[in-house]
This record gives sequence, structure tokens and C-alpha cells, in this order.
Amino acid sequence: MIPGLSVFRDHSALADAASRFIVRTLAAGIAQRGTVSLVLSGGQTPRAVYQRLRHVALESGLDWGGVDLFWGDERSVPPDHPESNFRMAREALIQHIAIPEANVHRIMSEYPPAEAAARYEAEIREHFGLAGGQIPVFDTVLLGTGDDGHIASIFPGSSAETEKDELVSATFVEKLQTHRITLTLPVLKNANELCLLVTGAAKAKVLRDVSAGESFQLPVHQILTARGKIHWFADHDAASLLHERKTE
Ligand code: 6PG
Repeated sequence: MIPGLSVFRDHSALADAASRFIVRTLAAGIAQRGTVSLVLSGGQTPRAVYQRLRHVALESGLDWGGVDLFWGDERSVPPDHPESNFRMAREALIQHIAIPEANVHRIMSEYPPAEAAARYEAEIREHFGLAGGQIPVFDTVLLGTGDDGHIASIFPGSSAETEKDELVSATFVEKLQTHRITLTLPVLKNANELCLLVTGAAKAKVLRDVSAGESFQLPVHQILTARGKIHWFADHDAASLLHERKTE
């Protein structure tokens, strides 16, 4: 059993439900505090969510001027590279919405990894007005997971997995033979809301292990002790090894 899990018949139904949840959460935060922070995930799964999000936000009259966009991680490529998480979000969402440029806090991945991480960390510290050892509280963090249980670019066995002091880490990912820039676990676990977006049969084993409460300490397990609420959005294929009934 995974607390907070909703299972959907397919990716499209998941994208619709997740985007409606995100808009509700953002709107509530803006109503309460005036502004909210949304951390976008990369990879392929969220693309459909972002495409749906722009329509749901328009229908609901969401004020994107009250939303600050951040990224959970980025590949070490320029922002117009086909593998860039920023580029994917720009094409699927950002170029279609009225969000001020100053609200879009992308990871400057055109710089060497360590410099990109330092610049992003400085921008986060400035945005949240953080002193020394303080950790930001992002309002809503979107995450995917790999079939190896990584989240953001925190891969099992990587230096990012054990990073406890930095907010942002530049990490070399052995299996990909490339550098990534990622928010660290202490930051992800400090969010008010975490939304895991998981689709496809390749993720079924990871979800089963999360459900079984397996003792392994994969990064995706580590967020189970997050401070805030965790919402899991899975499609039928990803949930195929679980016993939960479909939500929609
Ligand atoms: C990235 C993501 C990464 C992603 C998972 C799942 O930069 O790739 O941040 O953590 O969420 O790898 O990727 P898919 O959605 O493509 O399966």
C-alpha cells in the first residue's frame, strides 16, 4: 500500500488529474501567500502533464504571475539542447503561458556543472532569503523516478545521494557517463507537497518495492520520510504489480 497513491487508466488520465491537482494547489497557495513555488521535473513523463497544465490553468484563471518556476534537476547541456529539461518545459508549457521571465528560475546548465550548481544554489538562497544552513521550503515539487529508483538526478550510488549540506549538487552519473545538476534530498524532502508522476511498466517494480516498504534505501524510498505531503500519480502499467484499484 502506498499512502497518497492514485492509479489512472492511462497516461492521459494521469496528466489530466495531476494538472488539476497542481492548479488547485498553486491557486490555494497564491490565495494564502500571494506567491507559490513550483519545481518542475524532467524526463518524458511530465511532458503530457505540462501540456495539459497550460489548458487547465487557463480554464481556472490561474495567475502565473504568482508562480515561481524552478527545476528539480537538469542535464549538463545548453538550454536549447534536445535533452534539456528546461527546453522540454518551455515547449510544453512556458512559451504558452503568461509567466514573467523573472519567475522562471532555470538551472544555467550551459556553464560547467559545478558552476551551474553554485549559480542555482545562489539564486535559490536569494529567492527565499536563506541564511547559512537554512533549507528552502518549495511549495510543490514534481518528481519522476527511474526504474533504478532515482529521483531528480539523485541516482543510487552517486555523490548526490549522500549530499546533506548543499542545496544543489553537481553529480557525475556513472550509468549515464554524464554530469547532472540536482536539488539534493534535504531540499526535496522539505517541500510542502511532493507529486510523484510514474507511468509505464518499467516503473512497476520500483512502485512495488515502495509499496512493500522494502528496506532498501533507494533515493525514491528516502523521500517517504519527507516533511510534507506525498502524492503519487501512477498509471495502470506502473501500478500493475500493486493491489490498489484504479482511481480513474
Ligand atoms: C530527468 C528527470 C528524472 C526523471 C526520471 C524518469 O532529468 O530525467 O528529472 O529524474 O524524472 O528519470 O524519467 P521519465 O519520465 O523519462 O521516465
